[in-house]
Amino acid sequence: MRTTIATTAALMLSLAAGSALAGSHSSEEAMSEEAKTAMMEQITGDADEGEKVFRKCKACHAVGEDARNKVGPHLNGVVGRAAGSVEDYTYSSALMEKAEEGLIWTPEELAAFLENPRDYLPGTKMSFAGLRKQEDRDDVIAYLAQFDMDGMTMKEDN
Ligand code: HEC
Repeated sequence: MRTTIATTAALMLSLAAGSALAGSHSSEEAMSEEAKTAMMEQITGDADEGEKVFRKCKACHAVGEDARNKVGPHLNGVVGRAAGSVEDYTYSSALMEKAEEGLIWTPEELAAFLENPRDYLPGTKMSFAGLRKQEDRDDVIAYLAQFDMDGMTMKEDN
């Protein structure tokens, strides 16, 4: 997969930023190198295919350099990001409860959420039926993992 290195780099950045948001002192403390590696190994999808899957999300979510909140929060750096952490976005209380419990959007948690948002998180205001195909979930997660907290990617073909 041609985007593996870029994905890894973006994920490291988003992990550091995510744990900063979660209130820990340093990214090292929040997540060990092994944990980071394990998390990156969970990203097995095809980012280019994921860009197509993301069309289903675009009505409500933006990602990239000038991404803003729409119906849903912007998704820059979301892989590894603390749930409910976009400051100027008003989340449902269901999501904020998960955030207070310390939920981090690892690839695994994202996949579970995206498969069936309302089953995973009863009371969420994300009105989206879900991505029933595992391939679509894997691909869209690989796509999202390319963007760091500032919406920058390090894809070689940019
Ligand atoms: C109809 C609008 C809509 C669509 C379509 C949609 N979402 Fe959402 N999304 C939302 C809303 C609204 C929230 C806030 C949920 C809450 O507060 O309960 C959200 C929350 C999220 C979160 C949690 C973010 C955070 O900061 O904690 C992720 C991740 C996410 N969406 C990913 C996706 C992806 C990926 C897709 C496409 C496969 C998608 N969404 C499709 C509206 C949407």
